[in-house]
Amino acid sequence: MKTAWSTPAMLAAALLFGAAAGSAKAQAAGEKLFKQQCAACHAVAKDAPMGMGPNLAGIVGKDAGIMEGYRYSAEFKKGLDGQKWTPELLDAWLADPQNLAPGTYMMYKQNDAAVRKSIIEYLTSVK
Ligand code: HEC
Repeated sequence: MKTAWSTPAMLAAALLFGAAAGSAKAQAAGEKLFKQQCAACHAVAKDAPMGMGPNLAGIVGKDAGIMEGYRYSAEFKKGLDGQKWTPELLDAWLADPQNLAPGTYMMYKQNDAAVRKSIIEYLTSVK
């Protein structure tokens, strides 16, 4: 079914619904923010090579620290091992990674809740 959604007819049908159009718009905004703020270190395409940070394809719902081929810091493991990336946990992570895993390699911090939300919505859509 995945491919059906990429046909122009299906896309047009989706855009006829206000809600769908709204979420498509929100997704585009989130994607833009992701490119600005995360893409320097993270890829999201499934088979993309690891960057400075782990690949984030399908990260929402996954366990922390399991992306194959990436060497996480011991600090990251200590802070997040066994946890699942829910939208809530991601929100806390983006607000202050050092708070969840003191000493983690991720040098980033986002104080704006709306920006975090938009990026997390985008990540939820990336499988
Ligand atoms: C300066 C580089 C950098 C930036 C910018 C950055 N990250 Fe990271 N990120 C990292 C690194 C490095 C790690 C691995 C941390 C470790 O091992 O200590 C990481 C880890 C993560 C993880 C954990 C993934 C897993 O496999 O469990 C998530 C989720 C994440 N980052 C999301 C984001 C998002 C979303 C953004 C943008 C809002 C972002 N990061 C911006 C470098 C970065």
